[in-house]
Amino acid sequence: MRFYSILIATLFISGTFQQAVAQYNLPNLPHSNNDNFVVIAHRGASAYAPENTHSAFKMAIDMKAEMIELDLLLSKDGVPVVIHDEDLKRTTGKNGLVSDYTLAELKKLETGAWFDEKYTGEPFPTLEEVLAYTKGKIAVNIEIKHEAVTDITEGGIVDKALKLVYQAGVEDQVIFSSFDYRVMEHLNKLDPDMPKALLYEKRQSGELTPKQLVEKYSVDAFNCSHKVLSDEWIEELNANNIPFFIYTVNDKALMERITKAGARGIFSDYPDVLSNVVENM
Ligand code: G3P
Ligand code: CA
Repeated sequence: MRFYSILIATLFISGTFQQAVAQYNLPNLPHSNNDNFVVIAHRGASAYAPENTHSAFKMAIDMKAEMIELDLLLSKDGVPVVIHDEDLKRTTGKNGLVSDYTLAELKKLETGAWFDEKYTGEPFPTLEEVLAYTKGKIAVNIEIKHEAVTDITEGGIVDKALKLVYQAGVEDQVIFSSFDYRVMEHLNKLDPDMPKALLYEKRQSGELTPKQLVEKYSVDAFNCSHKVLSDEWIEELNANNIPFFIYTVNDKALMERITKAGARGIFSDYPDVLSNVVENM
């Protein structure tokens, strides 16, 4: 009896018991508020600093967010780089696509001045750089942008990103996501235990419900926009204990509604506001 009590207590403390019951594999949070809800800084603290930059990510760490989200594309020479738009114009002022420029050429571009001139000189970030300073400080959601995804598993963007995650030693604090469901298939072949979330995309989903999609692609979470989150989906996700994470929520009343609906986390450009709302609920 005593042995089993100790065993159960040990499993509980280590989180193993919880995982065995829950069956979904989510990343550890180096910094956690221990409320079973994840405050995610969307593209970093992107309301306050230029999105997807070191400044935005470091600000999210300072604000005590629990996870940052970043967007991943490949440079012309195949290096995973952090930027949302495939077209460089909006955030760098340059013509052309990310994939038209080598890393050395991207490094010469301006990524902060468009937001505020005080960020002039903000360097173009790589995944490798971000993983180095987030290690042990904050969890990272790596969103693989569909423009960089191909049918090739080995040597493709997912494989390259995974290798950087292993190299940095952060496999326990990372989750992958994508609107391109081929990413889930690549991950299931390359590293089935790596946490992954499906970003709901209508065309690839057909008539499948969130639960059916989670099962079909063997993912650990269902992520969608607050604009498509229906009462039926909420009911189905909660009834099946499927973790769901909702983007991009910047309005306080909506943050509260979605948290009360059972979401395991919210992506916000204002992680400080979100933390405050959740703490005071
Ligand atoms: O991962 C959540 C959210 O970032 C997905 O939309 O367009 O901001 O990449 P988007
Ligand atoms: Ca994103």
